[in-house]
Amino acid sequence: MNPLANKHIVLGVTGGIAAYKSAELVRRLREWGAEIKVIMTDGAQQFITPLTFQALSGNTVHKNIFDDEATMAMDHIELARWADLVLIAPTTADRMARMAHGLADDLLGTICLATTATIAIAPAMNRQMWQARATQANAGRLREYGVLILGPGEGVQACGEIGPGRMLEPQDIATRVRGLFVEPLLKGISVLITAGPTREAADPVRFLTNASSGKMGYEIARAAVELGASATLVSGPVALENPVGVHRIAVTSAAEMRDAVMMHLAEKNIFIAAAAVSDYRPTDYTEKKRKKGTASMELSLALNPDILAEVTAIPNHPFAVGFAAETHDLERNAQEKRHRKSLDMIAANHVGGPEIGFESDENALSVYWEGGGAEITKASKWQVAHRLLALVAQRYHEVEDL
Ligand code: PMT
Repeated sequence: MNPLANKHIVLGVTGGIAAYKSAELVRRLREWGAEIKVIMTDGAQQFITPLTFQALSGNTVHKNIFDDEATMAMDHIELARWADLVLIAPTTADRMARMAHGLADDLLGTICLATTATIAIAPAMNRQMWQARATQANAGRLREYGVLILGPGEGVQACGEIGPGRMLEPQDIATRVRGLFVEPLLKGISVLITAGPTREAADPVRFLTNASSGKMGYEIARAAVELGASATLVSGPVALENPVGVHRIAVTSAAEMRDAVMMHLAEKNIFIAAAAVSDYRPTDYTEKKRKKGTASMELSLALNPDILAEVTAIPNHPFAVGFAAETHDLERNAQEKRHRKSLDMIAANHVGGPEIGFESDENALSVYWEGGGAEITKASKWQVAHRLLALVAQRYHEVEDL
């Protein structure tokens, strides 16, 4: 889980509204083990304080080529030598122009000239500024110099315009940085994931469902792409954005989820069932809204298809990972499900409390496989997803090699 351990990153922050996102970028890179030293330009300090980056990076923030703490004004040479990567995020149009012309009138400029490390920039500016001929010429020249240009992304901008020029999201930048240093764990692997609840309609406006938000499954899909896999996500109705690079198929009921899974199962290496599929569905769906009238009402229910069990019943099925949402006897119940559904791995999820499991932003899992197990302690669902996929990748390769 520390793919960037011992990697030194000099993060240059220049003066754009996206500077606040770089705080999150520092957090993500440090979670992966990188050591970060931040340089802020004068412009950047108008948007966010050095103290924020100092607290997040754990290192003094460098601001000026003549900082008091700079060793005999040689800070730029030391930082340039220390860096395995110089990452500038956000990078303004002005910074691109300066870099393209080799200007060295501030600390960041001198480091860009003095370093032999890779330089990557994440541009952030108004779309007209990005599309301006001068900026595009500068981008071309920077590419010729070997500078990696990450993004920009497209979408609604701080100025209200829509188009290219947004800085990429911090986790997207972090993922690309990670890719510069490590071979992705799931490179060439194809993963199918289910997420969210299903809705089982009783009439046009009422349905049976559960509290799954989809967050766990979506973070697994996101992490799978970050680890180099191609990810297909069959999602029940949730209010989440599609993670970048994930092929999402939206479904409503368990029957639809089953059909979508079966349709997209071919050529998949790994199937991860994180969805909370409704076990039952009403049998007597009425075309018209049911009227209130009697003091009580009976709803007759039929068992839904067990999607996971159907997948593992197929010869040469993908490596199958199930979840077990349990309120008690976690290990016993999870192991029973692992055996009954012939799973390669099961992630037992303690549910019932507000802090982990359904709807929460954090989770913790007990993971079991034949002859082994591991604990994933409480962390963000994104981190839990990465730790789970590290176990899945390891076990998948072990099973493949048998
Ligand atoms: O979505 P979140 O709010 O982030 O919450 C995450 C979660 C708690 C929903 C998730 O981590 C989780 O535990 N998902 C599985 C919940 C569940 O339905 O468990 P189960 O014990 O009922 O089912 C066991 C396994 O069989 C699961 O992998 C399930 O997807 C699968 N299943 C169940 C029934 C069914 N008809 N078809 C299935 O494929």
